[in-house]
Amino acid sequence: MAKQLEAATEGGERAGLAGESAHLLDLAERADERVDAVVVLDFGAQYGQLITRRVREAGVYCELLPFDAPAERALALEPRGVILSGGPNSVYAPGAPQLPDWVLESGLPVLGICYGMQLLARALGGRVAAATRREFGPARITVTAGEADGGVFAGLPRELDVWMSHGDRIEALPPGFAPLATSANSPCAAMARGHLIGLQFHPEVAHTPRGKDLIRNFLYDVCGCRGNWTPANFIEAAVAEVRERVGPDARVLCGLSGGVDSSVAAALIHRAIGDRLTPVFVNNGLLREGEPELVREVFGRAFGMPLVYADAAGQFLEELAGVTDPEQKRKRIGETFVRVFEAHAAGAGPFEFLAQGTLYPDVIESATPAGTRTAQTIKTHHNVGGLPADMRFKLIEPLKFLFKDEVRAVGRALGLPAEIVDRQPFPGPGLAVRILGEVTAPALATLRRADAIVRAEIEAADLARDIWQFFAVLLPVRTVGVMGDGRTYAQVCAIRAVTSEDAMTADWARLPYDLLARLSNRIVNEVPGINRVVYDVTPKPPGTIEWE
Ligand code: XMP
Repeated sequence: MAKQLEAATEGGERAGLAGESAHLLDLAERADERVDAVVVLDFGAQYGQLITRRVREAGVYCELLPFDAPAERALALEPRGVILSGGPNSVYAPGAPQLPDWVLESGLPVLGICYGMQLLARALGGRVAAATRREFGPARITVTAGEADGGVFAGLPRELDVWMSHGDRIEALPPGFAPLATSANSPCAAMARGHLIGLQFHPEVAHTPRGKDLIRNFLYDVCGCRGNWTPANFIEAAVAEVRERVGPDARVLCGLSGGVDSSVAAALIHRAIGDRLTPVFVNNGLLREGEPELVREVFGRAFGMPLVYADAAGQFLEELAGVTDPEQKRKRIGETFVRVFEAHAAGAGPFEFLAQGTLYPDVIESATPAGTRTAQTIKTHHNVGGLPADMRFKLIEPLKFLFKDEVRAVGRALGLPAEIVDRQPFPGPGLAVRILGEVTAPALATLRRADAIVRAEIEAADLARDIWQFFAVLLPVRTVGVMGDGRTYAQVCAIRAVTSEDAMTADWARLPYDLLARLSNRIVNEVPGINRVVYDVTPKPPGTIEWE
């Protein structure tokens, strides 16, 4: 699908992310003041994205680039500093990623983290060697830097809990460097010479509780950033970019699912070009209770967009009749979506552009441990669900440099209501993958009612923000029960509620017993066809979040 989409975009559209990002920042400068940026170089770190997120959270724009990205690409961002990530290699190992010359030649402040620190040490004449004991996990460091030294430890306690993860360590500091901190296992847990700083531990992870302050100190005190990466600045720049890209006459089509990403993309483009954006909302009949109404209310009435509403519930049900295999379900839903989308788009066209809510994690190029790069992966946006190769749209992806939390902040700043901006992720195939077995109208009605209870109760318990996803699943299993004086023989409903950072791993949420009791009670009493409720206590892995 990704391939098809790529084929459907103009040649060269994808080339040179750096050029585009520089463009975004140039526009920001024109619109307001220049947005300060730093570059994170990825040496194969487990935590590269996390560093980038922490920097953005501190209000500084930041991009994660492979360590061997061309200097021009990094410098096009006009960074105020460079952060060197950790990595799994030893700096002396054959083929280990090396520090690119441009980093020190640029004269910019540098923060080397773990492997990044060792690269700095080696490049500047220090000595790095294997530690007698590898150090993984929590450690305590003693800060030896004086208060007057300022720098990254300014304002922090002299004893700090940190997270270490290294086999090598600095044995001899490079000339001119001063040690800033020690730990039991690392005589040099931090070092600095002017604005070149190395940390043996990981300030970006939650296990380094004051890590955010360290990163802030680097960004603000060492690099002189002003923290002007704000939703308002982003919106101003993105609106200018969309206007420039689309020009005065062209029109943009956008598949709207009611999910966060497509909603924010639509609201942003609408601000830029008004009614020349046409959102198409396909109601596939597989949505949760109240969803079609919410989307029509928000976009049609509140935003006044020329929303094309396609009620295709019947068509989807027909396509799903008799299908029980999860992958078949997904395929049929994807195909039907495209057909309905195209039919309605054709009626409202012509359109030169197609908007997608692609996010930054989908376009980051990562450096692999061996230093070879994985190809840039572009995921097809679930909300559009794949487009035929002969579609000749140009793509507009105004969110492709944002993380999910930033998208939410932008959505709020654009005036989208909390029901849209704070909603949990919902799979493209919707309730179809939460009805195990065949999807029928009665099964959908049953699941929708049970799911609405799960949502209402978890929201009422004020737990919605702490839980990544929570929903009901309808099982194709009947069990015996007793209600009043009668015996029942009805279906089982499973409740799934998970905590997660990014859906790659997840754990089952420790819901309070009385909440579970209320859920079970209400579902069995209020939803005909369900007489038993179970709670899923499987983490991911080995389970997945969805049941199909
Ligand atoms: P799993 O079930 O693989 O899900 O742990 C991880 C995340 O992806 C969502 N998901 C989907 N989203 N189309 C989507 O748009 C799909 O086919 C699909 N399957 C799973 C799931 O809800 C979770 O957030």
